[in-house]
Amino acid sequence: MTIELTSIHKSITEANGEKRELFDDLEFRLGDAPTSVAIMGRSGSGKTSLLRIIAGLDPHYSGSYFFDGEVLGRDAVNLARLRWRSIGFITQHFDLLQDRTVLRNVMFGCPDRRGSKARSRECLERVGISALASKRVNRLSGGESQRVAIARALAKQPRVLLADEPTGALDAESEELILDVFDTVKRMGTSLIVATHSERVAASCERIVHLADGRLHSA
Ligand SMILES: Nc1ncnc2c1ncn2[C@@H]1O[C@H](COP(=O)(O)OP(=O)(O)OP(=O)(O)O)[C@@H](O)[C@H]1O
Ligand SMILES: [Mg+2]
Repeated sequence: MTIELTSIHKSITEANGEKRELFDDLEFRLGDAPTSVAIMGRSGSGKTSLLRIIAGLDPHYSGSYFFDGEVLGRDAVNLARLRWRSIGFITQHFDLLQDRTVLRNVMFGCPDRRGSKARSRECLERVGISALASKRVNRLSGGESQRVAIARALAKQPRVLLADEPTGALDAESEELILDVFDTVKRMGTSLIVATHSERVAASCERIVHLADGRLHSA
């Protein structure tokens, strides 16, 4: 699996109506073998916006996106197919269904219903919260919610896992657990793109890039 973004430009409109170039000729490459990249950069530099483009959630940019060497079509059907088949996304704000149980939320991550319960339980165990399976999400702490979001993304067994500040709500011990989980995921053949402020998370990745002034810079 390869991802290549070339000559990406994106401008955003600020609240006062002014336009700002968020991405200015940005380039990004994710190699063939299972690999991991950390994207670092100041708050507001565009990490989440970049992950949303990679995830197929934002078609409003200029430039080219190649997935597995082919141009990614930007119509809704194509993007939905990309998200469904290939991408797992742990979002910065988790995006869980608040009035459903932990297990149900994770099951929603599974592309195939058959076996989804067993697989979801296994993923909850991996992130250390199997005891919470039947608890409603709106009763969870921030760190617990974050781990549900991680379990849901794992349940999908995606080809590439995007993680936006995946340990932002976790203490050091839980962060260590998630890094172990990511290691396992990589061994199973999934590539990883992580936006993070954590030096520890970044150091666990094979490559670190910095987002600044609308471009990615190698460390
Ligand atoms: N659709 C949009 N319209 C207007 N401004 C936007 C839009 N999306 C993002 N922005 C702005 O673009 C900038 C980048 O936002 P983004 O969320 O990508 O930053 P980030 O690097 O993920 O920050 P953080 O580290 O705080 O999560 C911010 O200034 C944000 O306000
Ligand atoms: Mg962000």
